[in-house]
Amino acid sequence: MPIQPITTGADLLTLTAHFKSNHQTIGVVPTMGALHAGHLSLVGASLGQCDQTIVTIFVNPKQFAANEDLSQYPRPLEADLAKLESLGVQHVFVPAEGQMYPDGFSTSVLPPDVAGKLEGEFRPTHFQGVATVVLKLLNMTRADTAFFGQKDFQQVLVIQKMVADLNVNVDIVVCDIVREADGLALSSRNVYLCEQERMIALTLSKVLNHVEALIGEGQTDGYEVVTEMRQMLIDGGVTSVDYAVIADPQTLNTAESISLPVVALIAAHVGKTRLIDNRIIK
Ligand code: PAF
Repeated sequence: MPIQPITTGADLLTLTAHFKSNHQTIGVVPTMGALHAGHLSLVGASLGQCDQTIVTIFVNPKQFAANEDLSQYPRPLEADLAKLESLGVQHVFVPAEGQMYPDGFSTSVLPPDVAGKLEGEFRPTHFQGVATVVLKLLNMTRADTAFFGQKDFQQVLVIQKMVADLNVNVDIVVCDIVREADGLALSSRNVYLCEQERMIALTLSKVLNHVEALIGEGQTDGYEVVTEMRQMLIDGGVTSVDYAVIADPQTLNTAESISLPVVALIAAHVGKTRLIDNRIIK
């Protein structure tokens, strides 16, 4: 039987009340749809670890700025449901905007300090929107465990800190980045790339490979590494670089002198598409 998405908070509450009364653990995989193998790895982790899995699909307008791609963002709902069904997912929450933000909705989460760096400098309202919707989804699904991808490295830090600071009783599981065979990190936004842009987009993972090798060979000068990262990105044909940094994986403070572990993070535009990627270097 094709999945019948749950569309209202009330129906979700009935379902989760049933799970709770049967003492079943609930895993939630929050997504904005346009599901790829990265999302499906989160779903697989939840199916493996939790008694019940709820996947949420909601393109959250509050995390897009006015100049961003909200209206273009891909919404292939039928294909998403088919992918989830093939994995054995039974519960998918697909709320309309009015379910999440009914008339008069006026509360939002002020995200933790770590939200102000990197992405926060280029997308100042983004993490407020993410934190608000994620907190709502965690509450609505009554999740015991929530699954997020390392691809959105800073998002994970923001959510982990929000959950700790606000005493949200949920375990956050972070799953590895899933890449194409040639290294391109999977992203719902990759569909925007034409063939030539896709080749250029590969530069991001190539730079991360290079940085990992450099640091592995003993390079400790953060300034030199970052200068090389930027140069490689430009030489590789990216349109512009928002940031290319080596930072502390907890605080995202950038390091003049590299001492492991660190995370290398990149945000760059290829044509009109903004891409992010990262690598933890231990
Ligand atoms: O990572 C995403 O897809 C979104 O930011 C999330 C966590 C589903 C919140 O809208």
